[in-house]
Amino acid sequence: MATPEQLLKQVHESVEAYCKAQHDFKFKSGAPIVRLHEPTFGAEEINAALDCMLTTQVTMGAKVKAFERQFSDKYGWKHGVMNNSGSSANLLAVAAIANPETKDGLRPGDEVIVPALSWSTTVWPLVQCGLIPVIVDIDPATLNIDPAQLERAIGPKTRGVMIVPVYGNPCAMDAIVDICQRRSLILIEDCCEALGAFYDNKPVGKFGRVGTFSFYFSHHMTTLEGGICVTDDFELAETMRILRAHGWIREVEDKATWIKRYPEIHPRFLFVNSGYNLRATELQGAMGSVQLPKLDGYVESRRENAIGLRRTLGQYGAVFDFQEETPKGRSSWFGFAITVREDAPFKVQELMDSLEAAHIETRPIICGNIARQPAMKLYPHRVVGDLTHASAVMDRGFSFGIHQDVDSTARDYIADQFRQFLKGRGVI
Ligand SMILES: Cc1ncc(COP(=O)(O)O)c(C=O)c1O
Repeated sequence: MATPEQLLKQVHESVEAYCKAQHDFKFKSGAPIVRLHEPTFGAEEINAALDCMLTTQVTMGAKVKAFERQFSDKYGWKHGVMNNSGSSANLLAVAAIANPETKDGLRPGDEVIVPALSWSTTVWPLVQCGLIPVIVDIDPATLNIDPAQLERAIGPKTRGVMIVPVYGNPCAMDAIVDICQRRSLILIEDCCEALGAFYDNKPVGKFGRVGTFSFYFSHHMTTLEGGICVTDDFELAETMRILRAHGWIREVEDKATWIKRYPEIHPRFLFVNSGYNLRATELQGAMGSVQLPKLDGYVESRRENAIGLRRTLGQYGAVFDFQEETPKGRSSWFGFAITVREDAPFKVQELMDSLEAAHIETRPIICGNIARQPAMKLYPHRVVGDLTHASAVMDRGFSFGIHQDVDSTARDYIADQFRQFLKGRGVI
C-alpha cells in the first residue's frame, strides 16, 4: 500500500508530465499565433492548488495569509487584504474608505474624480457606495488621467480621486499627489492592470490611502481570479478584513478589542459592521505564493517586448500614436496600446481585422470613454470637459498582447504584419 506521501508524489509527477507534454505556449513561426495572453502558471501552481484540495483545506486561511504577507513585504506595504478579484479589491477599498468606521473618509454624495479611460469596476464601486463619479479626460500621451483636468474638475463636493495607471503605465504621480495634498483629496489607486510598475522607484499603489491589484488569468501574474488591497493604514486594513467577510471579526488582527467591547455577544459570531463575502480561497493563496517570485521575470519580458516593438513600429509615427511613459514612470506594459491617427488613410478596424486574420489577437483599450458606455446613464455622475482624448482612444485605439511568451521572433512577425498592412494602404 502506497503511503499518502508516495501517492502525493505520484500526483505531482503526473501533473508535471502532463504539463510538460501539453503546455507549450511559445510562439512558433510555422504556425504563428499571438494571443492577448498565455497562462503564467504551470505544474508548480497546479500542484500547489491541488495540495489544498487534497488536504480539503480550501477556504481562506494560512495560505492566503502567507501570500498577503509575501506580497506586502515584496513592495513594502504594512497590510495586504487578498480577495476574490480586482473588482472586489476596488469594491473593498472604496467601501472601507466610505465606511462610517473610517475617520476622514468619504461620505455618500461626495464626489470622486476618475479618468474617462478606466475599467467599469473602477467606477461601479463608487456608484455602489453612494459616491458621485466625476469623469475627466486623459493625457493622450500617457493614456492616464490628465492632472490639469483633474485639478480643473474639483468642486465644492469633491473629496477623492481614483486613478488608473492604464496598461501598467504609472500616472504623473508628483502632480497628482501634490493636488491631493493641496486640495485635501483622498487618493485611491486602481492598479489592477499595473502590477510590477514603479514611479520614481516606488511601486504604484503606494502613493494613496489604498491601492488595489488584480490577479485575473490574463494579468502579469495570476491566481486565476483574485485581487488584493494594500495599505499602510492599520484601521483601514482591519475594516477591509471585516467588510471582506460578512462584517464579522473573524479575520481581524486585533480581535481582543472588539471582544472586550461587546462581552455580551458570542465572539464567534460577533458582527461589528456591514459586509460582503469577497474572500479568496486557499487555492488562490497557494498559487499566488508560487507565482510571486516569477513576477519580475514576466514584467521584464513585457518591457523587452514593448521596447523592441516601439523601436520597429515607432517609425510609423505618421499614422500611429503610442503610449508614452513619464520620465519617472516604469511601466509594466499590460499590453501594447496604439491609437490610429485621425488623418491615417485607414480605419482602426481594418488594421485590427488584418492582424486578426494573421492570428494576432487584438482588442479595444479598456472601456474607452466610460462616459459613453450605456450603463453610465443609469447613475448620477458629472462630466468635465469634452473628453476628446478618451473618445479618440475609444474610436481609434486598440491593443495586442506582449506577455511573457511573446519573444523576438514573435515581435518580428508582428512588425512584419504591420509592414504588410501599411504597404497595402500606401503608407510605406
Ligand atoms: C483598471 C482595472 N480595474 C479593475 C479591474 C478588474 O479586475 P478583475 O478582472 O480582477 O475583477 C481591471 C481588469 O482588468 C482593470 O483593468
